[in-house]
Amino acid sequence: MTTSTSARVNNKSNGNSYFSLTVRSSRVAVMITTFFSIALNLISCSPRADSVQPEDTIEVYTISGTRITAGIDSNSTLKSVAPFPIGAAINPRLLSSIPLYKETLQREYNSVSSENCFKMNQIQPKAGGFYWKDTDALVNFAKESNMRVHGHTLIYYKSLPEWVTSFQGDSLAWENLMKTHIQTVVGRYKGVVTSWDVVNEAFEDDGTLRRSVWYEKLGADYIARCFQYAHQADPRALLFYNENVVGKPKKLTAVLALVNNLKKRGIAIHGIGVQMHININTSEEALTTDVRQFVNTGLLVHISELDIRMNPTYSTNFTLTNALQTRHALKYKNVAKLYRSVVPKSQQFGITNWNVGDADSWLRKTSPCEDYPLLFSDNYSRKPAYYGFIQGLTN
Ligand code: G3I
Repeated sequence: MTTSTSARVNNKSNGNSYFSLTVRSSRVAVMITTFFSIALNLISCSPRADSVQPEDTIEVYTISGTRITAGIDSNSTLKSVAPFPIGAAINPRLLSSIPLYKETLQREYNSVSSENCFKMNQIQPKAGGFYWKDTDALVNFAKESNMRVHGHTLIYYKSLPEWVTSFQGDSLAWENLMKTHIQTVVGRYKGVVTSWDVVNEAFEDDGTLRRSVWYEKLGADYIARCFQYAHQADPRALLFYNENVVGKPKKLTAVLALVNNLKKRGIAIHGIGVQMHININTSEEALTTDVRQFVNTGLLVHISELDIRMNPTYSTNFTLTNALQTRHALKYKNVAKLYRSVVPKSQQFGITNWNVGDADSWLRKTSPCEDYPLLFSDNYSRKPAYYGFIQGLTN
């Protein structure tokens, strides 16, 4: 009998394996290390003092071909162990072109968000000309896979079609444009899309309102009206404000003021999306403080866009080491743990990863530098980060 321990992630782009550990032992060794006690601590933790606790370890090992990690059995998946929905932002075109993309989603996730297909430039590329093919594919996939659908996003300063950026009209015409967009999209998916990021990233880092086309044409209260229009179109949909606040305290304060103001005015807002595009050096203390302040609003809290960069300095000489993968895994673990410990169950809307495999990540497309920010490798194998996340969801 041979006990083999391995963790391997492949880099599709160059075909090389960038992380591979293998331990084989004889029957005698297996007897010594009994089934329940051999937690071969393959990836030992050499943490930064500010990022992980000394007791944090990631255990990934295989016994007679069966992969085990601490606290889970080989049939465990993200959705089977998590006490709240686990989502991925997806690109519906990959569902048909990459079978493993679809399989991984169906096996691991019970919620999907849309990375881009609900954005205005994709769903209404021409004035009044709505393109439903991708969003229909997404919701049909979710239905057949028994997944929740979160719509991202109705009103955003970016990803606008040219007909909007060049639109000429008075404030009434702009109001009508915005309202019609929201109500057409929400109305089509009434009762199907559970929740929406109604407005995304309305603030600058200094806490002032972003001078978006919406602000310029419609004034500061356009945000409140977006929520009202969405609520009219589907009174049962859960409505979120989504923002990138990590490490941006002034913006966070502005978001809190906004949502508290909406609540006070009786405008339907049900949750806050806390984007989490972080890196292996991001401090858990800061994340905890941020999330705690959102919890205090009493609204649902969604970690809406989780990815963790391994190469925070965008180094062109990046080398993927085991130590980096360990830190990456621990960061995923700690994010899951903090969500479970800081957000009361009644406010846990879930955690959404910002796509599935590393090769699908926006970071690969927007940065010329190497990075491996997600839970699955380019070929959709489970990475150490996956096991770290699982541990954070369970322990
Ligand atoms: O649609 C064109 C396609 O026709 C063309 O072939 C392709 C060539 O690269 O570009 C395609 O559009 C790109 C689109 O992603 C789809 O891949 C856009 O240029 C690109 O700007 C767009 O980037 C998206 C970005 O938002 C802007 O909308 C990223 O994929 C997406 O991950 C990112 O997501 C945002 C969230 O919405 C809000 N929070 C931050 C997060 C990360 O930036």
